[in-house]
Amino acid sequence: MKILLTGFMGSGKSYWAKKIAEHYNLDCFDLDELIEKQEKLSIPEIFEKRGEAYFRKLEREMLLSFTERDNFVLATGGGTLARIGNMNQAKAIGKVIYLKEDFELLYDRINEDKNRPLARLPFDELRQLLAKRELTYSQADITIKASRLKMDLLKEILA
Ligand code: S3P
Repeated sequence: MKILLTGFMGSGKSYWAKKIAEHYNLDCFDLDELIEKQEKLSIPEIFEKRGEAYFRKLEREMLLSFTERDNFVLATGGGTLARIGNMNQAKAIGKVIYLKEDFELLYDRINEDKNRPLARLPFDELRQLLAKRELTYSQADITIKASRLKMDLLKEILA
């Protein structure tokens, strides 16, 4: 089993990655955490010191490192699979699940979050960012409304 979770900031990717991993006894990874460990810097520090383009390069490299791996669930970052090249790559690696959520709910969760550099963007810009990313997120193998997600439903879908 190889499962990759995508969705906007605040959609619950890390939470669900842990739940799925526990349920199916899979290794659980969080792309942001792997990058932070490798760089010995937090995500905001990487954005600040090295820039977003550098961070996006790391995301792609880290994603590619999963090509040979098996039995895992990976929570990607909100921007990782918003790039069509990365989305196609992820779909070649395993099953991609998009955790879809209404913007207002996401905004309430991420607003002012200091660990998320892009969460500082104004309401309208964030809403536009989600609308733009939706085009790529929706290319995932499976789309699930995050707030309606239950383990039983997920089991059925994955079966
Ligand atoms: C980002 C989302 C973050 C993190 C970085 C950039 C984005 O991950 O990768 O701050 O571009 O949406 P989460 O979706 O886990 O917050």
